[in-house]
Amino acid sequence: MKANIVLLPGDGIGPEVVSAAVQVLEAVGQHYDHKFVFTEYLIGGSAIDKTGNPLPEETLQACRSADAVLLGAVGGPKWDDPRASVRPEQGLLGLRKGLGVFANLRPVRVHPALIEASPIKSDRLLGVDLIVVRELTGGLYFGQPKKRDWVDGQQRAVDTLEYTENEIERIVDLAFRLARQRRRKVSSVDKANVLESSRLWREVANRVAQRYPDVTLEHVLVDTAAMRLVSVPQSFDVIVTENMFGDILTDEAAVLAGSMGMLPSASLNGQYGGLYEPIHGSAPDIAGQGIANPIGTILSAAMLLRYSLGLEQEARAIEKAVDQAITEGARTRDLGGSLTTTAMTQAIIERLD
Ligand code: NAD
Ligand code: IPM
Ligand code: MN
Repeated sequence: MKANIVLLPGDGIGPEVVSAAVQVLEAVGQHYDHKFVFTEYLIGGSAIDKTGNPLPEETLQACRSADAVLLGAVGGPKWDDPRASVRPEQGLLGLRKGLGVFANLRPVRVHPALIEASPIKSDRLLGVDLIVVRELTGGLYFGQPKKRDWVDGQQRAVDTLEYTENEIERIVDLAFRLARQRRRKVSSVDKANVLESSRLWREVANRVAQRYPDVTLEHVLVDTAAMRLVSVPQSFDVIVTENMFGDILTDEAAVLAGSMGMLPSASLNGQYGGLYEPIHGSAPDIAGQGIANPIGTILSAAMLLRYSLGLEQEARAIEKAVDQAITEGARTRDLGGSLTTTAMTQAIIERLD
């Protein structure tokens, strides 16, 4: 098959990990006789530097007409002035909103050979296999008003946490559908003891659950969920939650997997091609050194093949090659090893069937 894939390398280690994933995709293309056509566009801080805009119009247009989008990361100290009016992160949020990708899937698996790379006790990590379904285009990130103003001679900052029933319904429904292909358990994470938006979330989740009598639904308060995630992570199958709760819980979940560099994600809505990115950021502390772990991005490329191109066998081949490389001891620095980004990528490519 032929597919048009837009690349958005972005900032910091973004270009390093995207280039790694492209090498893997090219190897897969050769093995399986597919033609992946890659075109690169600007986003984030590097787009601000070149155009003044973190999401140039031509980037958004290209992403809308692509079969899929693979993104590295945006942001960094250079653009971090809290008073700046344009920020790299606005580019990413604008892209997610502009593509309408409301469902962000963040699978978390613990490779048995990486148990010792995690600070969590090994008996807590055996068999962890969960997926966080993070609502991505609503909630606290996008609610209006979002502003600064003055009240009684003081500055005030306002963010708004809002959800409509429809926004909750579609993401919770997706979580239930996913649960049917897994262990049939949905944990809906909220803060219903405090937040009105969470009480609506719970109501809608209960309503959706009636359509899935074969799936168990539990409601978990987000503070408890944070605790359970490191104490009994095996108790989770599908977690579905609000935008910012999902953001925070998945960084925590990365600790289970051994490193921030391990976790991939897919952002979908069934309309545009889908947006794929590792869950980590631009890692300014290691950028430019060639030591970033490329696995989160490589596994995101596998998700791209699966969800946007329907290439299940090829997706599995990548996942298997990653597993095998790890089993056989391939480790970047974050995992306690010494392989460079390039060497890790090579180790994975060599193990593709
Ligand atoms: P970060 O995820 O960039 O880094 C956190 C820690 O994890 C760092 O120590 C980093 O070295 C390590 N790390 C992350 N990815 C790694 C990898 N692939 N291999 C090895 N180590 C890795 O989070 P941060 O430092 O809080 O944020 C830095 C910048 O990235 C900020 O500007 C933030 O806004 C941005 N950010 C962007 C995205 C995104 O583009 N999706 C996500 C998160 C943060
Ligand atoms: C992520 C990041 C982004 C988010 C930032 C960079 C806007 O942390 O993808 O997890 O909060 O969604
Ligand atoms: Mn995050």
